[in-house]
Amino acid sequence: MPAGQRDAAEAWAWGLGVQGLEVRDAETGRRDGRAQVIAWLDAGADVAAIEATLRAALPAAAIAWALEDASWAPDAQPVRVGAVIVAPPGAAVEAAPDAVVLRLDPALAFGDGAHPTTALCIEAVEQAAARGPLGRVLDVGTGTGVLGLLAALRGAEAVVAVDVDPAARAAAAEHAAAHGVRERVRVLAELPPPDRGFDLVLANVYVEPLRALAEALVTRTAPGGRLVLSGLGRAHVAELRGRYEAAGSTCVDVAERGDWARLILARTNVDAAAGPR
Ligand SMILES: C[S@@+](CC[C@H](N)C(=O)[O-])C[C@H]1O[C@@H](n2cnc3c(N)ncnc32)[C@H](O)[C@@H]1O
Repeated sequence: MPAGQRDAAEAWAWGLGVQGLEVRDAETGRRDGRAQVIAWLDAGADVAAIEATLRAALPAAAIAWALEDASWAPDAQPVRVGAVIVAPPGAAVEAAPDAVVLRLDPALAFGDGAHPTTALCIEAVEQAAARGPLGRVLDVGTGTGVLGLLAALRGAEAVVAVDVDPAARAAAAEHAAAHGVRERVRVLAELPPPDRGFDLVLANVYVEPLRALAEALVTRTAPGGRLVLSGLGRAHVAELRGRYEAAGSTCVDVAERGDWARLILARTNVDAAAGPR
């Protein structure tokens, strides 16, 4: 699906209480030539109005609608991203000894590993873990908990997983417990206060929240820490980079996959009195 079309639909839908849109098409591994739009809704959202708006924004002929978040779950297959395998509970998986297997129920929330933005963030966590201890990790827009859980399994000292969606918070807590790391994963509805900051901040949310959260996320990144942003289209890279750099960080990496992008930023505007951690 052309990026412009998806962006227009996202912009229109946002005002109606849609938390975000996911498009599943050839780019995300769909093989039947169709595109499926999944709208993540606020509880009580006016589904009929949203559907009418989205149908006007996107040519319906190419789209299978799925306004129920669990509708795509039966298609879920194990996904491999480097040494990380994300699989539904019970799916058969052949894993090398050094693989990390995340068993996540994709019916509960967004984050089964198949979306390019999730894969880009998994790669960022893996790169960070290869460089050294992960320390304290903040996972904003945790969904199933996939990124925070991976960080915990890679040895993070503590993980705070935040999501505005209660179903996602329940899923993230359940998945952390199922992997034996619940005591290191705190699940919250809001960002924690910006006290000593996090060594790694992960935010795979959508463009609107990324815009709104620039200062909040930069100030929650510890001196010397990294901030990973995804959920943005390639068309939004320059704008978001400018916004986050103005808030006090420097972009150190841009990666693109299909229409999607990921930015990695290092915090820069730290009060000299705070000193390095
Ligand atoms: C694209 S999903 C990402 C899920 C998972 N982190 C992944 O990488 O696959 C985005 C998640 O962000 C949540 N979200 C949207 N706006 C948010 C906000 N302002 N603060 C926290 N979470 C938010 C949504 O509820 C959704 O679960």
